[in-house]
Amino acid sequence: MKQHLIAPSVLAADFTRLADDIEMVNQSEADWFHLDVMDGRFVPNITFGMFIIEAIHKMAKKPLDVHLMILEPEKYIEAFRKVGAHVITVHYEACPHLHRTIHQIKETGALAGVALNPHTPVQVLEDVIEDLDLALIMSVNPGFGGQKFIYQTLSKVRRLREMIDATNSPALIEIDGGVGLHNTEALLQAGADVLVAGNSVFAAADPRATISALKAFQSVPL
Ligand code: DX5
Ligand code: ZN
Repeated sequence: MKQHLIAPSVLAADFTRLADDIEMVNQSEADWFHLDVMDGRFVPNITFGMFIIEAIHKMAKKPLDVHLMILEPEKYIEAFRKVGAHVITVHYEACPHLHRTIHQIKETGALAGVALNPHTPVQVLEDVIEDLDLALIMSVNPGFGGQKFIYQTLSKVRRLREMIDATNSPALIEIDGGVGLHNTEALLQAGADVLVAGNSVFAAADPRATISALKAFQSVPL
């Protein structure tokens, strides 16, 4: 039985008491910290960059999963690695030289991920899938937390699962956007490995218990 991973999205944390929220994740059954970097160009919102991630890295006791929603991510890969990124994910839609960018990430020693917007079919990953450590399927349009899960995502996950299982790819399937207790079972059944959860965790009455509940769902037998 393989065990799925839970990656709380810090975007939904309370930044006036960020240390407390990081400590909550440290103490919880979560596996990674998911960190959303937005540039106001690739997506219509601006969040945080290296400076904040460096501060989070000082307190975090779990790997940092950095999701770059930025144009020209290749310019900043070394910088994000330097401040503690363990996984670096770039968007397919932002990378004209995706193969080169994936290998640039791997050369820093980080795990390499590629994210797909809701309209981008999984087939575009066919020729790089064996090089990937992670494929992230956006289940909302990137830019904001707290949006509604797009159900079409489930069939994309199934198609990506087939592609990964048919090759020697080590890639984990990560789902990002609108994930919570209501759709976790369906996502795991479709073949998801990593669940990002922002508002469903941080806006819950008991965030730590919610992480445990997300983690407690049965993973699908290998
Ligand atoms: C959206 C971000 C997500 C977001 C998820 O563009 O990539 O990681 O923080 O937040 P929820 O879980 O609230 O949809
Ligand atoms: Zn994200």
